[in-house]
Amino acid sequence: MAPLLEVQHLKKYFKTPRGMLHAVDDVSFTLDAGKTLGVVGESGCGKSTLGRTILHLTDATDGKILFEGRDITYPTRRELSQLRQNMQIIFQDPYSSLNPRMSVSETIMEPLKLSKKYSKAEMIERTKELMATVGLAERFWNIYPHELDGGRRQRIGIARALALGPKFIVCDEPVSALDVSIQAQILNLMLDLQEERNLTYIFITHDLSVVKYISDEIMVMYLGQVVEKAPSHELFRNTLHPYSKALLSAIPIPKVDAQRELIPMKGEVTSPINPRPGCRFTARCPYVEEKCHEPQVLEEIMPNHFVSCCRCREINEISETVKGRN
Ligand SMILES: Nc1ncnc2c1ncn2[C@@H]1O[C@H](COP(=O)(O)OP(=O)(O)O)[C@@H](O)[C@H]1O
Ligand SMILES: [Mg+2]
Repeated sequence: MAPLLEVQHLKKYFKTPRGMLHAVDDVSFTLDAGKTLGVVGESGCGKSTLGRTILHLTDATDGKILFEGRDITYPTRRELSQLRQNMQIIFQDPYSSLNPRMSVSETIMEPLKLSKKYSKAEMIERTKELMATVGLAERFWNIYPHELDGGRRQRIGIARALALGPKFIVCDEPVSALDVSIQAQILNLMLDLQEERNLTYIFITHDLSVVKYISDEIMVMYLGQVVEKAPSHELFRNTLHPYSKALLSAIPIPKVDAQRELIPMKGEVTSPINPRPGCRFTARCPYVEEKCHEPQVLEEIMPNHFVSCCRCREINEISETVKGRN
């Protein structure tokens, strides 16, 4: 069976006065139905642009997007409206993504209205169901989003995303703006919904402790490119790319006696504008050598574990023979 989503060599460039900004630069992956791909990396590495390009909220510069085996890179208007039902987004900031002049029920009902597929009575019924699904009591029906706390506002965002019964949801930092105590509630809700409805998620975050909890696979991005991709447990157990190592070493360790070497990242993030051909992490990498300035390839270093670093084997003391699928 075809994967639910397949992204091939996707590029999204923005023209800027200083040159071409490579926000997403040759990203490829496949995602099976019911699974979660975590996308991590520092602010500005292209996570949101990747999500938005897949959802056609912005046009791709190059590459291919396939949904359920169909090429949807350049959809017709009709296909696009169908895709809007199947593919949805949950935003980080429920403050700015919700219209302050619409009540909770109006906000959730809006996509139903726009679809023109439901009678008034059906819309009311469905809105009630959606509110119950995301744990919003009916007493909030006529309340306005700004009267609610961040967790409840994010529940509205989730209900709205679920309204038309999507198969796939891009979750763009959905808990980053929430208190830690509320983050777990929202993550649990998202996991329950995934299980009940076989939803497929791309889960974008700069917070690695969150992504570990929710993802089947994790993709680490740096300046528009994938530097490492592996099943979640493997990525945390056996981190291979120098950037991922630095990123992971910055996560607080809960156990008092736990030891982890903090790997400092020197230098600044280089610019995604007119990038040079080699590894984009060279300016900050402690292992940089001459060959790092040549173009890098995302290579399967271990089964299902891909790394874009020409020094990966040396740094991690991996022999050539480990390579290949089992
Ligand atoms: N509409 C746009 N026009 C120009 N540059 C953009 C636009 N949207 C995003 N960018 C740039 O693309 C890069 C990636 O941004 P973004 O996808 O928002 O990163 P992230 O979500 O990982 O923080 C950044 O350098 C950002 O400034
Ligand atoms: Mg973002």
